[in-house]
Amino acid sequence: MLNPDQVVYLNGEFLALEDARVSVLDRGFIYGDGVYEVIPVYSRQPFRMPHHLRRLQYSLDGIRLGNPHTEAQWETLVRELIVKQPFADQALYLQITRGVAKRDHAFPPGVPPTIFMMSNPFPFPTRDQIDHGVAVVTAEDNRWDRCDLKTISLLGNVLMRQVAVDHNAVETVLFRDDRLTEASASNVLIVKHGGVIAPPKDHLMLPGITYDATLEIARAIGLPVDVRPIMRKEALSADEMWLSSSTREVLAITKLDGAPFGGGTPGPVFRAVWQAFQERKPHPSDASAHALNR
Ligand code: PDD
Repeated sequence: MLNPDQVVYLNGEFLALEDARVSVLDRGFIYGDGVYEVIPVYSRQPFRMPHHLRRLQYSLDGIRLGNPHTEAQWETLVRELIVKQPFADQALYLQITRGVAKRDHAFPPGVPPTIFMMSNPFPFPTRDQIDHGVAVVTAEDNRWDRCDLKTISLLGNVLMRQVAVDHNAVETVLFRDDRLTEASASNVLIVKHGGVIAPPKDHLMLPGITYDATLEIARAIGLPVDVRPIMRKEALSADEMWLSSSTREVLAITKLDGAPFGGGTPGPVFRAVWQAFQERKPHPSDASAHALNR
């Protein structure tokens, strides 16, 4: 349900959602010409904000759009928005578009970007998803070849996600030329013989902040970690397969294309990493929980 009174941020102002208005000529609306971030917020603490701000800069550089704020300014704005929400655990969405201009594909000179932020209640995975895992389907990755940029042009991802929904699954795991890339809105990792294997970051997948956190946790608890290309055959015969994202954290895949996967139940490596992830999430009353939040 939309809450019209929810405080959002638009172009220098905090205002009610119902009062936030953008021109129909905004290049975000006309061309999907912009970038975004989703920052998880636990107990009003943004998780790994410097990582998200660095990736934001990378996406802005990738679409040749200047960053309207310094990291310190972003941090101030993000924290201001967080304290204005009545709930403590949030998923903060931030987007920057190339602004409002007469429709023309070329960059408009001298136009200020449109900056929008909102922070919604954190959509925690359900107990059932954590305990029993989730269903995915697989599909050919037919998106463009700059999937490393977090752009708001998400039609390819939207269409892929709908394939999952159409099959009562939560995600679509994508393969490009038989190589595992990621899922429609998550990264994908596998487990073989007790070790975690992850596809290397390249232009065909989003460099996930949770992917990094998950690999760091795996190493910290002594698991072997191998980052290398994963072919479809290897992925489909893995002992475990996981999804990672800012809002899903880490989830085990227990059904794939309608058949049980990995024994149909979350595996032991997933359980160990999930537990360690929970212990390391920021919590204001536990300073040691900040270990991952550098
Ligand atoms: N999606 N790959 C894609 C295509 C994604 O959209 C996302 C995140 C990820 C995981 O990245 P991270 O761990 O930094 O969240 C990987 C966000 C949550 C979204 O679009 O809502």
